[in-house]
Amino acid sequence: MKEWTREERYRALHSPEEIKDLHDRICTSVFRQTYHVQPVTGLSNDPNGFVFHQGKWHLFYQWFPWGPVHGLKYWYHTTSEDLLHWVNEGVGLSPDSVYDNKGVFSGTAITEDDDLYFFYTGNHRDENWVRIPYTCVAFMDRDGTLVKLPKPLFGPRDDCSEHQRDPKVVYHKGKNKYYIFLGAQTLDRRGTILIYQSDELLSGWSFAGQLKVTGYEHFGGMWECPCIVNISGKDVLIFSPQHIKLPGRGESTNHNVYLIGKMDYETLTFIPESDFHHLDYGFDFYAAQTASNVGDPNKAILIGWMGLPDNHYPTEEEDWEGSLTLPRELRIVDGRLIQTPVSGIETLREAEIPADGTLPTACELEVRSNGGDFDLNLFTRADGSGGMRLHYDDAKRICTVDRSGMDRRFNQQVGEILDMPLEQPLHRLSVFIDRSSIELFANDGEAVFTSHIYPTVEECHYKVSDSVSVRIWTMKSSVKDDFVI
Ligand code: FRU
Repeated sequence: MKEWTREERYRALHSPEEIKDLHDRICTSVFRQTYHVQPVTGLSNDPNGFVFHQGKWHLFYQWFPWGPVHGLKYWYHTTSEDLLHWVNEGVGLSPDSVYDNKGVFSGTAITEDDDLYFFYTGNHRDENWVRIPYTCVAFMDRDGTLVKLPKPLFGPRDDCSEHQRDPKVVYHKGKNKYYIFLGAQTLDRRGTILIYQSDELLSGWSFAGQLKVTGYEHFGGMWECPCIVNISGKDVLIFSPQHIKLPGRGESTNHNVYLIGKMDYETLTFIPESDFHHLDYGFDFYAAQTASNVGDPNKAILIGWMGLPDNHYPTEEEDWEGSLTLPRELRIVDGRLIQTPVSGIETLREAEIPADGTLPTACELEVRSNGGDFDLNLFTRADGSGGMRLHYDDAKRICTVDRSGMDRRFNQQVGEILDMPLEQPLHRLSVFIDRSSIELFANDGEAVFTSHIYPTVEECHYKVSDSVSVRIWTMKSSVKDDFVI
């Protein structure tokens, strides 16, 4: 892989022409997704500014235009009317102000009647390369263009390290106040969330305190991308803790977890009612955020980055990398988050095809079991060798996924085998395969497993135990790969 100099990583984009060839080239890749949002060029990471506004879903992603590395970040804009079909809209926010001179980092959206605002981190670095993160705002004008407010709302606090970013903005009806939840790292390198409050959305912000999360005072070294959402009267706190190994998660030190409980805005305490859970048990899932304004207090929509910090993927050789996950509906049932693929996903089924052991490059598999252990080997060669192997152990209620048999192996350092533990016996798996990804939804949303996957042409077979039944549909393409900058 090419070494990128700092100059190359922090080069600004001046004209679409500069990356047109790149787009034309990567478009022909066999790994370009067909029903997942992916970078128009270069690299995508976190979803940003995800919101429903005036009949449309807006979704941005962290974007590095020039290639498959992290560098000067933009927000790239996509829209959808149904969360299934996505259209490229061009650059949303560019790092063109002094406050974000080294990147427009992650953030979230909030609607106020007819207005739409975006709160994000301006990643400023001074001439000595010292990072100074600012919390900034932009709004969407009538033409759909994002306009930045000239000044940030506030800068960093000195009682935390330089890592203070990713504002989640919420309105609390009872208190008639706005709050910002900001991911941060204390000076003694613990992950935390800083809370800011204001009576007005665009001014008057003051620091309210550090969020106390009972039992999570020492839980990793930085909490990225915090998110809080109320579902069925319960608060759900979502965040991405880093620099910590967690049981059953291999060597990875980047995670995306959630807690269900009660957010007490009086004492700035989140009181979890149970242990944390992983949002996803797969290899590649991080920095998820929700759009909660879905008009139903019992659900939220979540989308994540299908990838992890410090990991590398085979499409780097083709000069691009990344994808977002399918949007998921979140509900709370019996104190647990239930995550199902966005409703209407079945309309993307193109045709049901015979379950004859061949795997199309974009398809949905529905696997049903009447009980007991089973195996599902995906992406094997014609002779049944290799591939991604899934074994369900009914006594333990654990589904183990092993991707070490694939020809193209990657991120071996974090481990190639992971478990998806279940509470209920596994009776149903919904499997969504796109050209470079797989998402497994267990038992109608009890647990989810997301992984990138880069099969060779020969790796297009599957085999299941006799005890389970499979149906397969090819999927329609629903995400446009147009060059819009
Ligand atoms: C998470 C993250 C955020 C940051 C953004 C930069 O993946 O590191 O904390 O805002 O990515 O691209």
